[in-house]
Amino acid sequence: MIGAALGLMAAGLAVAQSGEKIPPAKPAEKKEESKPPKGNALRGRQLYEEQCGICHFSASGEKKIGPGLKGIYRNGKFSSGKKVDDASLRAWIENGGVDMPSFRESLTVQQISDLIAFLRTL
Ligand code: HEC
Repeated sequence: MIGAALGLMAAGLAVAQSGEKIPPAKPAEKKEESKPPKGNALRGRQLYEEQCGICHFSASGEKKIGPGLKGIYRNGKFSSGKKVDDASLRAWIENGGVDMPSFRESLTVQQISDLIAFLRTL
């Protein structure tokens, strides 16, 4: 028994020494990485004026090209009835709509977080 165990250990050592790749331990903060960064509403406001304001009022719910976004979080729903939260808004901004362009290529993850932080204040 002991001989067999020692044999296995030796075999294991041989494998380890033969350069077999042992994956490095995953850092504990891995989970944080997949979470989007915290947004800055002030920067979001600026971005909104540059990127969204031509089509969306922020101070009313009135339609411009797209619907006014005042109170979008308070109302809690898209026109489609889908729930408004950070994830659904991010997906919407990344994908765009029928007449709304996609911003996946033109905005960074951080910029979308900033926009969402601003939309929360409306
Ligand atoms: C070229 C015009 C245009 C631009 C620019 C634009 N949108 Fe839109 N957006 C629309 C239109 C039109 C709709 C209506 C839905 C559709 O097109 O499918 C819409 C819908 C939306 C909705 C869903 C509203 C609802 O109640 O369903 C959100 C949220 C939104 N836009 C956010 C943004 C944000 C944030 C930006 C800037 C990053 C932006 N839009 C830029 C035209 C635009």
